[in-house]
Amino acid sequence: TRVAVLYGGRSGEHEVSLRSAASVVRHLDRTRFEVIPVSIDKAGRWQRHDLRRIEQTGDESLSIPPESPEVRLAQGSGEGSGGRAAVVGLDGDRARTEIDVVFPVLHGPLCEDGTLQGLLELTETAYVGSGVMASAVGMDKDVTKRLAGLAGIPIAPYRAFTRRAYERGAVSLDEIAATLSLPVFVKPCNMGSSVGIHKVKDWAALPAALADAFRYDVKVLVEQGIDAREIEVAVLDGDPPFVSVASELNPQGHHDFYSYAAKYLDPEGASVDLPAGISPEQMERVRGLALQAFEALECSGLARVDFFLDRQSGAFTLNEVNTLPGFTSISMYPKMMEASGVSYPELLTRLVDLALD
Ligand code: DAL
Ligand code: MG
Repeated sequence: TRVAVLYGGRSGEHEVSLRSAASVVRHLDRTRFEVIPVSIDKAGRWQRHDLRRIEQTGDESLSIPPESPEVRLAQGSGEGSGGRAAVVGLDGDRARTEIDVVFPVLHGPLCEDGTLQGLLELTETAYVGSGVMASAVGMDKDVTKRLAGLAGIPIAPYRAFTRRAYERGAVSLDEIAATLSLPVFVKPCNMGSSVGIHKVKDWAALPAALADAFRYDVKVLVEQGIDAREIEVAVLDGDPPFVSVASELNPQGHHDFYSYAAKYLDPEGASVDLPAGISPEQMERVRGLALQAFEALECSGLARVDFFLDRQSGAFTLNEVNTLPGFTSISMYPKMMEASGVSYPELLTRLVDLALD
């Protein structure tokens, strides 16, 4: 089976993707799969790579060479994603002869948000993970909460609004301050890895936080900060889906939330409890909620579902659903699966098999 591992991408999580993909490429079962690495650089150019050459150069990070012959090939093959995708053979009939399945190891907008999934649908290419709708919904933290709320999954109070509404004065910061209490979190609506997220502890800091979040997206959220523990659950599709044990993330040192820096830049940024140190009842509750969220959003393949556990009330609220969660060597999705009895190589094999089903 020929598996194209697609990585990089144009989002703010490009570097995370490089690390995720390096790990996926390393763990895919070579006795079953022929691995074809395909990168998307920050300008959106696709390149197909020779795995043997990557392995010979010992390029563990899968960094993307800026001026390789493949880039020129990609540019010469026409504008638009169709032309770029043709580098991989993703152009209808050819796709089916050159690769069997795409494993998108990409995070964030234009990667994880249904756009790429739509391209793969158009070219009738099998791919790992959620389809167009669940990917788009999962990327949008506001729509995720709305759908989850409809399904009866508890969510914390928040406000979402567009830059347009904000700029024309349709959003009252006074009203937000009157309805939410400090601290609040300001987040770009469509982002991942905590890029562009601010913890606001003083209302005077809200406008600057909004301005920064609007650098990443045209819609932002202001969420009620709760004094909470961060609990995550991994879901692997199946009939019924397999739900992992939950884990807990503890931001450490000077990090007062699980920020991008705490996740990826500071080796001491967070510690993990796997399984989470919660009661058996809480464990069952949060695993059930994770499955409910997976089904409410109509996810397929995989998802990591993130929750807050209120330290005072003991109640869970949904934070977000990640349809292409991190796969780096320190990422929680594969770790939670491993702790639940599914090894990293076996997990990848199951994901590819699900895509081919
Ligand atoms: N968005 C990052 C990759 C994650 O959810 O792990
Ligand atoms: Mg996320």
